[in-house]
Amino acid sequence: MRDLRVSITDRCNFRCLYCLPETEQAANFYRTKFDAVRNPKPFALTPIRYEWKPRADLLTFEEIERFVRISVSLGIEKVRVTGGEPMLRKGVETLVGKLAAIPGVQDLAMTTNGQLFAAKAAVLRAAGLKRVSFSMDSLDRANFQKLTGRDGLAEVLAGLDTARQLGFGPVKVNAVVIRDLNDHELEALAEFAHERDLSFRFIEFMPLDSSRAWQKELVVPGREILARLRARFGLVPVDQAGNPAETARRWAFPDGRGEIGIIAPVSEPFCGHCNRLRLTADGKLRTCLFSLAEHDFRPLLRGGASDDDLAARLIELVTHKEAGHRIGQPDFVQPARTMSCIGG
Ligand code: 5AD
Ligand code: SF4
Repeated sequence: MRDLRVSITDRCNFRCLYCLPETEQAANFYRTKFDAVRNPKPFALTPIRYEWKPRADLLTFEEIERFVRISVSLGIEKVRVTGGEPMLRKGVETLVGKLAAIPGVQDLAMTTNGQLFAAKAAVLRAAGLKRVSFSMDSLDRANFQKLTGRDGLAEVLAGLDTARQLGFGPVKVNAVVIRDLNDHELEALAEFAHERDLSFRFIEFMPLDSSRAWQKELVVPGREILARLRARFGLVPVDQAGNPAETARRWAFPDGRGEIGIIAPVSEPFCGHCNRLRLTADGKLRTCLFSLAEHDFRPLLRGGASDDDLAARLIELVTHKEAGHRIGQPDFVQPARTMSCIGG
C-alpha cells in the first residue's frame, strides 16, 4: 500500500446526481429512463435532506496528521486530501501544511469539485500542495448544472486556469461518464484536455450513488470510450510499465500536449494491482472503495493508543485487504456510504 486518501469532510456544495443527488427526481433519473413502465410515478422535486456528520465526529487535524505520519512510516508515499468537498473544511490549508511537513510524504494531492478552489489556490500551493484533481463532467453549462445540481461551470473553469497558472502540474480532471447524460461530450472534453494541456480521466460510473439507482446500462465501457477517442484523435499509448498500480490506461495526443486516461473499474477491474487505502472523515479505514466493513481508528486515536498500537492495527487490516470488488457478481452488495463519505 503506497497511496492513502484522506476524506476531511463528508459535506459538499455540489449535488452530483451520481453521488449526492439534490432531489428524488435527479436521483431517479436513471430509473425513469430505463424502468418507466414498472415505475411510472413521478419522483419528488423537493430537495433531499442529507444528515452531515457532527463536527465532533470528524478527526481533528492533529489526529489526521498522526494517522498519516504512522501510515508513512509503514510505506505510504502518496497522500490525497479529499471529501466530500475538501475546500469546505475550515483551515484546510493548515492541514495541508501539516501533511506536507511529514518526512516521507512524496506526493501531496487534493481532489476538488473546483468551485471554491481559485480563492485558496495560492495559499494551498504555498502550504505544500503539489497536485490537484478537479471533477468536471461537462463543458456545457446546462448539462453541468443537470449533473452537479449547481450552475458552477464558470467557477470550475476559473479554478482550473488558476491551478495551471500556479504551476500545479500536471493538472488532472476527472469526468464520470454516464450513458445518454454526458457521453455525447466525450470528444469535446478530450479536445479541451488537448487545448489546455490537461491530464484528463474518463471514469466509468460505479455503484456508489446515495440513491442506489445505478444500473449497468448507464456504464459506458472504457473500451467504447477509448475507441471513440482513438478514432478522433489518433492517440498514442503512454508507457506505464514502471507503474502497475495506476488505475488509468493512459494515452497521449500525437503532438504531446495533454493526455487522456480511461479508468474502467466496472468493465475491467484493476483490483489486483490496487495500492490504496482510504480514511473517512470520521476516522474509519476502508481497504477498498467497495468494502462492506470499516475499521474505526477514532476510538484508538482518542483512547490513548500508542503509535505502535496504531501501526500494528494498520498492518493487520492491510493484510486482510479484500481481493477485489464484486460488481456484476450475484452477491454484490453496494456499500452503505457514498463517494462523498469515502473520498475519491
Ligand atoms: N462513479 C464514478 N465516479 C464517481 N465519483 C463520485 N461518485 C462516483 C461514482 N458513482 C467521482 C467524482 C470525483 C471522484 C472523487 O469520484 O466525480 O471525480
Ligand atoms: Fe460533491 Fe464530489 Fe459527490 Fe459531486 S461527486 S456531490 S462534487 S462529493
